Formats: sequence, C-alpha cells, structure tokens
Amino acid sequence: MPEQYRALQGFKDILPDERPYWRFVENTAAEVAQLYGYRRIETPLLEETAVFRRTSGEGTDIVEKEMYSFEDRPDKDGHRQSLTMRPEGTAGVVRAYIEHGMFKLPQPVKFYYMSEPMFRHDKPQAGRYREHHQFGCEALGESDPTIDAEMIGLLYQVYRQLGLKHIRVHINSIGDRNCRPQYLEILKDYYRPLLNDCCQDCKIRFYKNPLRLLDCKEPQDQPKIARAPKIADYLCEPCNKHFTAVKRYLDLYGVPYALAPLLVRGLDYYTRTVFEFTSEIDKVALNGGGRYDGLAEILGGPPTPGIGFGAGIERIILELKRQGIQPPAEPHSRAFVVALNKTPEIKNAVLQLVADLRHADIKTDMSYGDRSFKAQMKQVQASGADYALLLGEDELANDVVTVKNQHPEISESEQRGVQVKRSELIAYLK
Ligand code: HAM
Repeated sequence: MPEQYRALQGFKDILPDERPYWRFVENTAAEVAQLYGYRRIETPLLEETAVFRRTSGEGTDIVEKEMYSFEDRPDKDGHRQSLTMRPEGTAGVVRAYIEHGMFKLPQPVKFYYMSEPMFRHDKPQAGRYREHHQFGCEALGESDPTIDAEMIGLLYQVYRQLGLKHIRVHINSIGDRNCRPQYLEILKDYYRPLLNDCCQDCKIRFYKNPLRLLDCKEPQDQPKIARAPKIADYLCEPCNKHFTAVKRYLDLYGVPYALAPLLVRGLDYYTRTVFEFTSEIDKVALNGGGRYDGLAEILGGPPTPGIGFGAGIERIILELKRQGIQPPAEPHSRAFVVALNKTPEIKNAVLQLVADLRHADIKTDMSYGDRSFKAQMKQVQASGADYALLLGEDELANDVVTVKNQHPEISESEQRGVQVKRSELIAYLK
C-alpha cells in the first residue's frame, strides 16, 4: 500500500464547508476597509530574509525561532540568497511603498491586504497555526493621531458588522526613540536584582530586548511584571500629547477602549500607539497593531511614519463560532435536472438543458453516470435545489420539462410537478 499523506502539522485545509465563514469575514472586512479609503495591496509571499530580520528585530520570537527561511537556488554567479516565507505583512508593504516611490504620492497612502498567508514555526495549538491568514491595514506617511483612531475605529466597525460581542481594544503607548531608551534603563534597573529568579528566556531578554520582559508568559514572572515601572509614566511630552489625542479621538469614533499599561508587542518596529483587540471571554488576541514610525528608514526609505494592524482570520472565525454567529448561507442550486431513463437521447437532452440553464446564469446541477430515478431524487434533496427538472421520453416528445417544486411546504399537486414548455423554462425559473 502506498503511504497516505496528511497536511503538515500546524497547516490546515480550508474545505468548502468552511468557506461561508471566510467569505463573510473577507467581504465584511474589505467593505469596511474600502469605506475608510483603504485600497488593496498584495505583496509576494517570499522576500529577502533581511526584510523581516531587520524590521521584526533580532531577539524577537519570530526572527529567533519561527521564520521559514531557506537558501535559494544559486544564481548565475553561484551566489545563494537567503529567502523567507512571510511571517507577517507589514515589512513587505513598507518595502513595496519604498520600492514604488509611493512617498511621492499625496500622504497618507492607505492599504489593506486580505487573507494573506503568513508562516511561523510556532507550537501548534488551538488558534495558533504554522500557516495563518491575516486581514491587515497599513497607513503610511501620516503621524497625526487621528489616523491611529481611524485604524482602531475601522477594526471595531468590522467586528461590530460581523455581529461579535464582548470585543474590547486594549491600548498603550510605548514611546519613541526619545523617551523609550530612558525607560528601558529604568526597567533594567528594576529587573537587575530580580534576574536570578527570572525564567531563562527573561534572562536573555534582559540583555537583548528588555521591553519583551513585560510580555513573558511564565507564571513565576507575573508578579514581577505587575510591579514593573510602566512606560506610560515615562513618556516624553510629544508622545504623551499624541497618546492623549488618540484617546480623545477614539471617544469620537465611539470605540470603548481599555488602557493596558503593560501591553508591548512581539515585534520590534513599534513606536507610540500599540493595540490589541481581544474577546473579553477567552482573552485571545484577534489582532495586533500599532504605530511604526521608524520602519521605512530601516528598509532604506525616507523617514515615514506608519501605523497598521494584522487580524488573524482563523481567530476571528473561531470567535464567530464560539459566539454562535452564522455566516450568510451559500446560495444553493435553482435547478437539478433528472433523467427519467438513460437512453443516449435523454442523456443528450439533459446535458443540453443543463448547459442552456447555466449559460442563462441559472445555478443548475445534474447527476452523472447511470443512477436510478430514486438515487437521483435523493441527490436533488441533498443539493437543496429549488426545483427538480424531469426529462423523459414524453417530455422530449412534447418539448416540455416536468418541473417539481422542492419546497417542503408545497401542495401535493405541485409536488407531482407541472409541465413547462422548454422555450418558457428559463423565464419560469427566473
Ligand atoms: P501579530 O500580532 O504578530 O502582528 O499578528 C497579528 C495577528 O495575527 C494576531 O493577533 C493573531 O490574530 C494572528 N496570528 C499571529 N500568529 C498566529 C498564529 N501562529 N496562528 C494563528 N493566528 C496568528 C503582526 O503580524 C503585525 N504585522 C501586525 C501589524 C500590522 N502591525 C502593524 N501593521
């Protein structure tokens, strides 16, 4: 017996039965993004490794442990480039913005991306996969706090239009290159005497990426985090003013928010506003985002402020299911053509009818092969089609089709079927 294969661990097939959820989220999110003036961008799944390494930052979990990187085939000089399968969407969008000179356009330039696959060699568990898909928005070229509020307001509107309840945004400001270095020194002073008692990862974070100390999930380190100095108390005046304005504008957008003084993010490029939406019930992050005013420069572009978010589609769908929200049903077939016997003439007539109806934009199905009448009628039922269209010798001779309404509450006479002229059938079904 040949070996049977399964999808890789942490990778999932999205089967047709799941599509209504995906379509619901994708359509709702795209509609709202467009309403707010965002335009769709698609960037390649593969980029030079440096694009992610330099932006996400050394010392982050993504760069240290999770990237799917490999050496490309040698070019004509025998040189092999290191490539990486996109772990997140922002770096590629900013790379494209610079590459296409979009800083010369009227600013800000506002993008969204939809269901883009992202790859992280994470430990697979509920809501955490090695391939996941994001809906994201990025706005480049504007530092005004109105756009921070717009970004958060947009996402809140998406969740509301999906019908999700108990969704809360947690916001924080993590300062900028003026005030954050001083805060990090204060944070390190606080942690230094506690370090012996910290988890192994925190001992490394202390030297490599101290802000991430606040993101440790180990139980032993939680009391230390709770008592740590909060960055909000050390923001410089411009950062403080910016954050105050973001909160004021959020009120105008009608977004209820919670201040989260310990919220830091898993990527290094953030400055000032950071935010995460979670479901109040299971506390899982539906999305993450924030401002990244220094990112374009890291990728060789002119100084360009930016802000954005990425929302995990799988996580949103899990939450929809948890809250019992049904997506709109997929349209089923209008007609299902049934052959009353399987002579070559009837088979031809069935196929011709199916083709005519499909060309007339009527969703039509049929059964294949030589199934019995009873088996075909079972298929009609399973398909959910509105009408069974019966074709036999009598129908052929009289140029009619027997139409049986499949609605469950139909009268008995209608269940037996009515004969409709072949030439009038399309009008009848429409
Ligand atoms: P992130 O927080 O790393 O941010 O990911 C964004 C969202 O993607 C998460 O909140 C979660 O919903 C989903 N996600 C992340 N990893 C996984 C996983 N392993 N399995 C399932 N879902 C996952 C970013 O990626 C930033 N690029 C967001 C951003 C855009 N910031 C500014 N602009």
